[in-house]
Amino acid sequence: MSPQPQAAVGAPLSRVDGRLKVTGRAKYAADHKPDGPDGVVHAVVVDSGIARGRITGIDTGAAEAEPGVLKVIHHRNAPTLPYGPNPGSLNLPGQRLRVFQDDQVHFHGQPVAVVVATTLEAAQHAASLVKLDYAVEPSETDLAEAPATGDPVTYTRGDAEAALQSADVRLEMTYRPARNHHNAMELHATVAQWDGDRLTLWDKTQWVQSPRAELAANFGIPAANIRVVSPFVGGAFGNAARAWPHLTVAALAARETGHPVKLVLTRRQLYSGVGYRPAYEYKVRLGSDRRGQLSAMTHELRGETSRYERFSERGVLAPGQMLYTTPHVSQTYRTVALDVNTPTPMRGPGYSTAAFPIESAMDELAHELGIDPIELRRRNEPENDQASGRPFSTRRLRECYTVGAREFGWSRRDPRPRSTRDGDRLIGTGMATAVYDTLRAPGQAGVRLDADGTAVIESSTSDMGPGTYTSMTQVAADALGLTVRNVTFRLGDTNMPTAPLHGGSLTMASVGSIVQDGCDKVRQQAIRLAVEDEDSPLSGADPDTVVVRGGRLHLKDDPARGETYRRLLARNDLTRLEAMGSWTPGQSRSSMYAYGAVFAEVAVDARLGLVRVRRMLGVFDAGRIISPKLADSQAIGAMVGGIGMALLEHTVTDHRDGRIVNANLADYLVPVNADVTGLKAIYVEGRDDEADPLGVKGLGEVVVVGVAPAIANAVFHATGRRVRDLPITAESLL
Ligand code: MOS
Repeated sequence: MSPQPQAAVGAPLSRVDGRLKVTGRAKYAADHKPDGPDGVVHAVVVDSGIARGRITGIDTGAAEAEPGVLKVIHHRNAPTLPYGPNPGSLNLPGQRLRVFQDDQVHFHGQPVAVVVATTLEAAQHAASLVKLDYAVEPSETDLAEAPATGDPVTYTRGDAEAALQSADVRLEMTYRPARNHHNAMELHATVAQWDGDRLTLWDKTQWVQSPRAELAANFGIPAANIRVVSPFVGGAFGNAARAWPHLTVAALAARETGHPVKLVLTRRQLYSGVGYRPAYEYKVRLGSDRRGQLSAMTHELRGETSRYERFSERGVLAPGQMLYTTPHVSQTYRTVALDVNTPTPMRGPGYSTAAFPIESAMDELAHELGIDPIELRRRNEPENDQASGRPFSTRRLRECYTVGAREFGWSRRDPRPRSTRDGDRLIGTGMATAVYDTLRAPGQAGVRLDADGTAVIESSTSDMGPGTYTSMTQVAADALGLTVRNVTFRLGDTNMPTAPLHGGSLTMASVGSIVQDGCDKVRQQAIRLAVEDEDSPLSGADPDTVVVRGGRLHLKDDPARGETYRRLLARNDLTRLEAMGSWTPGQSRSSMYAYGAVFAEVAVDARLGLVRVRRMLGVFDAGRIISPKLADSQAIGAMVGGIGMALLEHTVTDHRDGRIVNANLADYLVPVNADVTGLKAIYVEGRDDEADPLGVKGLGEVVVVGVAPAIANAVFHATGRRVRDLPITAESLL
């Protein structure tokens, strides 16, 4: 088949759903109003006020006496739920939290009851009247104090201990990135409605298959009985990939009261109701020669998890295995079970955590040896993936360094810490490398071309913010030869063909290739129809010479000879052409990652210790860029998130009782407009044809990965102070 002209892909399109969003017509989970005579009733979760122990008493009398209250459900009156096995999207060892099934409390903020009432206000007030008594047991929530549990995950290459002993230069540092919460704008919300033994959920989710599988297992009903609808998601960053306990609470409340139930977690409840990026202690030892050639690196990690599930993430080990030429590597990754709720992936999962110690350590080594940090990284650039022994499919990291250094003005840098001032402010610049796995997964998409020359494509993927609606429309428009205006992409419904999890930066590569496949099939059907139709101007033409543009099929080399989809379908009495798109990634012979080089300039108030990021530049090798405007939205948004990780974000727990003390957006600090200026992203040219038919490597994660260490390195350069704990606070610089 002749390659299609590319008109929509590569164009800086605005979001096709932008107007719906800014006019408030996009319906998020909590906006949904079920049909039916009595509308929806409201559920408010009562959560535990202790971190560990037993519920010894529950008094619901006052709550139940409130006007409008329909029911208060808790472990003493809740039905036993089957809670069958469900590996879920994370497949964690352990046993997931079972709501209202016993008197045990595993963490502060655990759902222990739910109040259902006809109005939200009645439910909220009644929830405050539920009285709980506990037998409190001592809790441990401090990663620094608790022992590791279970066998560590280890990785060994060569003999790191021996290599360290014989190295010219040895460094040893421990870094402590803080616990972070995703804090998306949209609260977690679900509307649950039963119809006999069929359940419909309007839910905030990154993957409609996830709540479906979870509730099927929890209630012991077939997955086919459950429909999940999630057309819009107001940000997620990873914490809507898994189905959290409040979903079961909502479905249970709906079943027990016989009404459709709306349950919205409060901002405070998000800090224990859904997961978070776990805190880590990450000890690095590295050995190198005087020229900066690494011989050995050891990585000893401790990461927090809950007592009931063991959360670990592969991504926290990957960069230490493959980013730099290192003959001898030893990694030991221990999880520490605490009286907390279970962590979950958060943007750039694992990689963004590991990049902080590794990229800080490289900066420390560069300083120690008096070598430029970029030059140090170039000297350790591997020729292949030393962990797998495989060649890289594409790795344009050197180009990222070159372009980044030039655009950022790196050569003007005086490498001496504390060498540059601007009035009272110390100015510093720093850089870091970014890397993230190119993940791909199989799935399907339905494609329909209607007789009016418009197309509808459906796949049960999600759009948590990257712009799936838009990018898929672009891919479909070019593959079908339609204008973007004539293509509608739909997502977020289990009734649609199954898509993979919307996470891990795999959606563009995977769903994009799936959509393209389905559209290619429909276009080819139309071309075949035309060349075999004696009444078509294309009759008898070689199908491989026909392209479609603006809804019109024509010979590639003779655009005058052709006709529109509309004419072709009308003449053949067809109301539509349809196909199912699919793609399954093959076994890869190569090592596939996206890369980047991130540069930051900071100004540190010498007397107050306040850090301000003055400008940042990210240069990314993410393969082909489908949608440049959306790519910028991803990259700039990630820099904002990375500024948060570096300078502001820290979930603080009172270890006396396990309560999170800053569970709100006034005390949990995130960057706001005044914190953010001068952010820019550049994408180095090039596709990765081994990765997927579209040639993309995934962008949404790699863009956050190097941000925090680039800022930390800039702070060191500005102040001469090396801060190894995140976030870097004013106190740590005074
Ligand atoms: Mo992302 S942490 O893979 O949703």
